[in-house]
Amino acid sequence: MHKDIIVRSVGSYVPERVMKNDEFAAFLDTSDEWIATRTGIRERHLATAGETNSDMALKATLKCLERAQMEPDELDLILVPTVTPDTVFPATANWLQGKLNCKRAWSFDLNAGCSGFIYSLAVVNGMLQSGMIRNALVMGSEKMSMLADFTNRTTCVLFGDAAGCLLLEAVDPEQNPPGYGIKDFYLKSDGSLASILMQEAGGSNKPSTYKTVAAHEHYIYMDGQQVFKHAVRRMYESVMEVLKQVEVDPADVDWFIGHQANQRIIKSTQERLKVPKEKVYLNVQRYGNTTSATIPLCLDELYTEGKLKPGDKTVLFTFGTGFTWGSCYLVWGGVP
Ligand code: ACO
Repeated sequence: MHKDIIVRSVGSYVPERVMKNDEFAAFLDTSDEWIATRTGIRERHLATAGETNSDMALKATLKCLERAQMEPDELDLILVPTVTPDTVFPATANWLQGKLNCKRAWSFDLNAGCSGFIYSLAVVNGMLQSGMIRNALVMGSEKMSMLADFTNRTTCVLFGDAAGCLLLEAVDPEQNPPGYGIKDFYLKSDGSLASILMQEAGGSNKPSTYKTVAAHEHYIYMDGQQVFKHAVRRMYESVMEVLKQVEVDPADVDWFIGHQANQRIIKSTQERLKVPKEKVYLNVQRYGNTTSATIPLCLDELYTEGKLKPGDKTVLFTFGTGFTWGSCYLVWGGVP
């Protein structure tokens, strides 16, 4: 029997330490003016050396479960999209499950860069629809500061650390008269462009050696202009295609929540969609690019501030390494 997949709860966490643009100017040839004009970013939060990805994820999870008045042991599944795992193996989801001490849930990671969160929603949506599980925690959590080369001004200024999550639940349609929940996805990838944005060393293709570390190949490599060019095109495509699938006009959407990498990319999408800028959420100025944590962090902020209301027609859209891109259309509601 068909199930409705609703958002039961939302949570997020950002580390205490805020690094403002000016601080980079002390050790790099850059300025607040350059970073803010080119990206919109003013500051980002950074985890401490001892604060792991799963530590941040744990804090976001506890907030999310408290809102839902649920115990960790009631979780069926934990899925963590991330490119900055605590360890390559086991998965960050396993470390998180251990910290939550929730023995019922099974747990694994998913790697799709900045598209990780929306890809994970799609995977979990299918599993919930099938009846295999009744609920799932989807946790986008990233310690991007561990991948950022703080000697390279072209990349390190762009990223930040954060965790954000949604708790999804399958309900019978008669339990959900307003029809809240996930409606559709549009998902794409193009692996022929994989080398434009990558971590070159540390995998089986090029294992870490003294040489790769000396060459800074364990940090983010990005051809920024190429990424920018593709992102602008694909973000707009993602929004338009999912709206076409669900037969909703952009003018009727309440919230557009896009991956926050660069204010200019989001602004260009907003202009092409011809929608008011107030409907296109922007928080890149305060967090930088937090990869898979970005979208749930936006959702938690909007919900906490009372701006995201039951029944709001919402489009989530993204673009990231792979390249991967896509979108999700959902009707917000079901959060206590
Ligand atoms: N401060 C000062 N100057 C800088 C800085 C800096 N922080 N960074 C670069 N510059 C310089 C460059 O060296 C270059 O100097 P040159 O002309 O002397 O060579 C000049 O500024 C212009 O550089 P560009 O790369 O052309 O700058 P651009 O306007 O393209 O902005 C940026 C760069 C911000 C990275 C942009 O290309 C961008 O946002 N790209 C997309 C990033 C993105 O969307 N990532 C998402 C995916 S991330 C993921 O999936 C993990």
